[in-house]
Formats: sequence, structure tokens, C-alpha cells
Amino acid sequence: MIARLTSTIAAVAIAAGAWSFALSTPANAAGEEIEIPSHDWSFKGPFGTYDRGALQRGFQIYKNVCASCHALNYVAYRNLEHFGYNEDEVKAIAAEATVIDGPNDEGEMFERPGKPSDRFVAPFANDKAARAANGGAFPPDLSMIVKARPDGANYVRSLLLGYVDPPADFKMMEGMNYNAYFGGHQIAMAKPLYGDDVTYEDGTPTSIEQEAEDVVTFLAWASEPEMEERKRAGVMTLLFLLVFTGLLYATKRKIWADVH
Ligand code: HEC
Repeated sequence: MIARLTSTIAAVAIAAGAWSFALSTPANAAGEEIEIPSHDWSFKGPFGTYDRGALQRGFQIYKNVCASCHALNYVAYRNLEHFGYNEDEVKAIAAEATVIDGPNDEGEMFERPGKPSDRFVAPFANDKAARAANGGAFPPDLSMIVKARPDGANYVRSLLLGYVDPPADFKMMEGMNYNAYFGGHQIAMAKPLYGDDVTYEDGTPTSIEQEAEDVVTFLAWASEPEMEERKRAGVMTLLFLLVFTGLLYATKRKIWADVH
């Protein structure tokens, strides 16, 4: 009886182990598991916040490097107030963009400078134009990329730093680039960061690691701008529950104090 029970428990444990292993192994085109290094992000953990300097620098990288291929359709210029820019600064940033608006009274579309309420202007008029300019590959909208990929922040950072020489026996397809962290290791995006891509407005020295960290902080914010409020609400709820538990306990002691 005991032996049967033990073997049943063992079988269940093995099945559960196999199941959790199957769940934890990421699917990958080459059937190989790619280990993604973890980075120490300012926004990690229950008290983490987005580093404001990194947000501003990351926006500078996005604007000067990534924006020529990648749209950011879910972010509006006025959202940049979150980074510590004032209203006039946001207006000036928005006005650098050219928005196609209309139709006007004559039925024509027309161009005008961007306003804070506009969403970020996309680099291509449509998906086909985006593909045509990128050898047939589609540069995805980056608004949600950090949420859309497992372990997104670490993944995108690794991807940006992952352009290395392919192993000697690796067969590259034409127009592709080797990347240590992309599934299958062949990516249509050429290495976008070199470490000297901008001069940071705040004077921070540039390096490829610094640029990758900053642009990923910016993209993490884009995919979850309300993260800080969410964490604050969580901490407040826990504090409230703690105080409430204390009050209940004190009440209970008082009520039962005379019962012996
Ligand atoms: C010259 C155009 C170009 C530039 C500049 C560029 N990208 Fe890309 N990017 C692409 C293309 C094309 C793809 C699609 C690659 C594919 O599917 O093989 C891509 C894909 C990606 C992906 C998705 C990878 C995945 O898992 O599917 C991320 C993330 C990304 N780019 C981030 C960036 C960031 C951040 C920058 C700026 C630092 C940037 N890109 C600059 C063209 C570009």
C-alpha cells in the first residue's frame, strides 16, 4: 500500500517536473535555448522607477537612430512630460515632426508641424513601404516591444549588443546579420548602435552599453508608462492592510481582555 502510494507520488512529481520543464523552455526556431543576461534596471523590483536621465537619453537614441525605421504609434508627444520636460519643451519637440493632416476644405491633405497631442509620426506611410525599404523585413512598432517579448528589457538590450561575428561554419542568408540573441541568429536589422551615435544633451559619455540601456529604459516606459503609479498603489495597499491587521488585532485583544 505504502509502496503503491510512494510510486504514485513519484509519478506525479515526475510528470509535474516534465510539465514545468516543457513550459520553461522557450520555443526557438533553431531548437536551441538562448540564455539572456540580466541587467540591473532602475525600474526593476517593487520600488523601481524609470531613471529620468535614462528616459531623456533613450528618447534621444530612439529619435536619432531607431525612428528612421521603427514607428512608436502608441506614444504621443505630450507623454514626454513624464520625463521632466516642460510644456514649451514638449511643444518644441512635437513641432520638429511633420504631420500629414486633413482633408481641408478643398479636400486636400496637408502638412503641418506636430502638436503635443499628436502621436509619434511613423517613418513610413504604410507597412509595405516599411518592408520595401528594409529588404522585405518589417521593422515592428516598438511601443509594446518590451512587453511583447519574454524578459523584454533584457532581451532587447542583449539584441542591441548581440551583433558578433558568426561561427565559422554558420551559413548566412543574403542581407541578414548575425545576432547572438535573435532566434535562429539571422536578423534583417543591421547593427543599429555603435557607441558614438549621439552626443548626449546631459553630457553623459556614450558607449554602446550606455546607449542600449538608455533606449531600453525608454522603450520599457513606452510599453508601460503607468508602471510607477501601479507600484505605488501596490505599496499603499500593502501598508493599508498592515495597519488594518494591527487595528483588528488590537480590537480583538480589547474585546477578549475580560474573558478568562
Ligand atoms: C535601418 C532600419 C532599422 C533601424 C535604424 C533600427 N531597426 Fe530595429 N529592426 C529593423 C528591421 C527590418 C527589423 C526586423 C528584423 C527581422 O525580422 O529580421 C527590426 C527588428 C527590431 C526588433 C525586434 C526583434 C524581434 O525580436 O523580433 C527590435 C526590438 C528592434 N528592431 C529594436 C531597434 C532599436 C531599439 C533600434 C534603435 C537603437 C533599431 N531597432 C533600429 C530595422 C531597423
